Amino acid sequence: MILVTGGAGYIGSHTAVMLLEKGYDIVVVDNFSNSHPSVVDSIRKITGKDFAFREMDLNDPDATARIFEEFRPKAVIHFAGLKAVGESVSVPLAYYKNNINTTINLLEAMQRYNTRQIIFSSSATVYSAANPMPLTEDAVLGCSNPYGWTKFMCEQIIADTIRVNAGFSAVLLRYFNPVGAHESGLIGENPRGIPNNLMPFVTQTAAGRQKELSVFGADYDTRDGTGVRDYIHITDLAAGHVAALGHMSNTGTHVFNLGTGRGTSVLEMVHAFEKVTGVKVPYKIADRRPGDIATCYADPARAREVLGWVAEKTVEEMCADAWRWESK
Ligand code: NAD
Ligand code: WQD
Repeated sequence: MILVTGGAGYIGSHTAVMLLEKGYDIVVVDNFSNSHPSVVDSIRKITGKDFAFREMDLNDPDATARIFEEFRPKAVIHFAGLKAVGESVSVPLAYYKNNINTTINLLEAMQRYNTRQIIFSSSATVYSAANPMPLTEDAVLGCSNPYGWTKFMCEQIIADTIRVNAGFSAVLLRYFNPVGAHESGLIGENPRGIPNNLMPFVTQTAAGRQKELSVFGADYDTRDGTGVRDYIHITDLAAGHVAALGHMSNTGTHVFNLGTGRGTSVLEMVHAFEKVTGVKVPYKIADRRPGDIATCYADPARAREVLGWVAEKTVEEMCADAWRWESK
């Protein structure tokens, strides 16, 4: 039994689908603070499989322990967390509280119930902006916003806890920029309010829900002056978690980048989207967004060599699947 926290969310729901398809037994928990109960039904619909779901808040240590008492999971995949960078600057304590408490409560329950394996959703945002590209897992760490620090701190808390529990293992997965949706169009990314991230803004602009895309800076030292990122298809990312599960017999804490190793600029993404969908994305060049860097992409060699995992889907597939989801 695998406990999937935040499994009604964007990345958790796609991973839940893949786990069910691979024959894993899962229990999903979520408090729907950033997701909708209908996602649970969509996961069942896509897979044709049933699984246990509990609506609960992982800030509650007793409720967390009850999940372990009931299901005795062998491993935890911990997606639950708040993830909006800008919001974390405005309400830092909400981020520190939720992201760190949920992780501590899970680790305590793991110790109590002898659940020895955890996979944690970390982020490329833990790498210092000063690193050369591509980023290896050994690059210098350092964050520029409270959200990033919660990931940095959770990584440390997990590693320290694993160290004192013989036989325990953790895999910290540092995601680059997850985009796209399940090919069924039944699950995808559903940001509240005006999207902060590029791909949902592009799809909503194409759908006429936003007037135009602001391209945040065209004077970076990049191919076309716009920001370059390592976009990774959500189903490739989900597959990274399945690959990590196969690595959990290695005790201790292990860190992997999940990215493609390829950078795509904002304008390249817009043009790929237009080409694939045939829909225009009106845009204007705007000021740089504070806190952004010119270029960020992964060296995914360690995940390839150790986990046997590689991201396979192209930027065109990411656009097509994101658009199918938006259109539905
Ligand atoms: P998401 O918001 O779609 O999913 C997170 C889920 O966790 C939501 O369904 C939310 O309701 C749930 N949740 C939050 N706090 C909870 C709590 N206290 N108890 C129970 N459930 C709770 O986000 P996502 O994009 O799927 O991200 C999943 C994880 O990956 C997060 O930890 C995020 O920080 C991390 N991550 C995301 C990205 C990205 O760009 N999407 C990149 C790097 C890392
Ligand atoms: C991508 C590029 C923008 C919106 C964020 C988090 C990171 C991780 C992934 C969680 C940049 C440009 C964007 C727009 C634009 N999340 N852009 N117009 O900033 O690389 O990463 O999400 O861990 O922590 O910081 O992703 O999608 O916001 O931006 O021009 O309306 O698109 O400037 O170059 P980012 P993003």
